Amino acid sequence: MRAWRFHETGDIANLVLEETDVPALERGEVLVRLKCASLNPADRYLVQGQYPRAGTPPFTPGRDGSGIVLHAPSGGRFREGDKVCILGGLTGVSAQGTLAERCAVPEEWLSPIPEGWTFEQAAAAPLVHLTAWRALKVCGGLTHGETVVITGASGGVGTAAVFLAKACGAHVIALSRDTAKRKTLEAMGADETVDTNAPALEREVRKVAGDAPVSLVIDTLGGPFLEKCLRIVGSHGRVMVVGLLAEVTSEITLGLLIHKNIRVQGLSVSAFTPDQAQQAWAEILACYEKSSKRPIISRIFDMEEVQDAFRHLKEGPLGKVVIRIEDH
Ligand SMILES: NC(=O)c1ccc[n+]([C@@H]2O[C@H](COP(=O)([O-])OP(=O)(O)OC[C@H]3O[C@@H](n4cnc5c(N)ncnc54)[C@H](OP(=O)(O)O)[C@@H]3O)[C@@H](O)[C@H]2O)c1
Repeated sequence: MRAWRFHETGDIANLVLEETDVPALERGEVLVRLKCASLNPADRYLVQGQYPRAGTPPFTPGRDGSGIVLHAPSGGRFREGDKVCILGGLTGVSAQGTLAERCAVPEEWLSPIPEGWTFEQAAAAPLVHLTAWRALKVCGGLTHGETVVITGASGGVGTAAVFLAKACGAHVIALSRDTAKRKTLEAMGADETVDTNAPALEREVRKVAGDAPVSLVIDTLGGPFLEKCLRIVGSHGRVMVVGLLAEVTSEITLGLLIHKNIRVQGLSVSAFTPDQAQQAWAEILACYEKSSKRPIISRIFDMEEVQDAFRHLKEGPLGKVVIRIEDH
């Protein structure tokens, strides 16, 4: 089979498309013939050797994927020919990932492709939606009517968070540096949008928030933005630290935490157990069932174009970057 692999960590150019063996199945694993995968910034960190618990090279990254079951354990939940997507686990972290024609995935981390969804949508959605759900609901405790600010709102996690927060009845303020993307975010349902790089970001957010305090911030940027988030959130607010696209360290004013009684919490989608991920996925799909919307895809690349796809991801796409592994 063909797979994108790196033999040494370093530049993303270390990823090469090559022939390798079809993975041997371990107990409880399903062999998936992949149709689509999608990229996450973590895939780049992994190739660069900056990701904890990464697999030993030669290694195939890729955490998200959808495809068709080729072999499944007898008596299990899946049969040959079932259409499935991957909800999480160690695939593309320490176990070989989805930028390949075949992937061995523990049965407990698979789910049927949602009714009416394409392989592309099913490969695009799981990781970012489960992350956004964890940030908004599981850790963030979002309730109906609260005001939520989402940084990096045009990204994979951001677009998922905008959809899910709206589905939960929140008032959503979405941040993006790009005017065109802000317009699209509004068309997608964000109540307000603000330029991430506005010199007085806190004041701009307050202006659009009106009288309602910001109760919850979902931060995908880190670096200098964490301090800004602490200034934006209201008294007794919650700030969920999801990502660090801007910078890996932040300097914050501790007095803000104390005087405003703010809760700052880091979270990882990897903290879901398989059962919890399946439950959260069901709740996410229930949000989609009440709407005609679908996960946002920025662009679909062919299997041979993975390098271009990583470049597109780095430029800051609107929504997910999908790889079509096999025509369908
Ligand atoms: N904690 C977890 O379990 C978990 C899970 C998934 C992802 N993450 C992390 O969450 C972060 C976001 O992931 P993603 O998939 O949403 O990424 P993404 O699709 O690449 O999008 C992030 C968005 O952030 C904005 N952005 C990027 N760099 C920026 C900068 N320097 N300053 C200001 N804005 C910037 C861009 O939007 P504009 O151009 O519109 O401003 C971009 O579209 C990453 O750090 C990722 O590793 C964490």
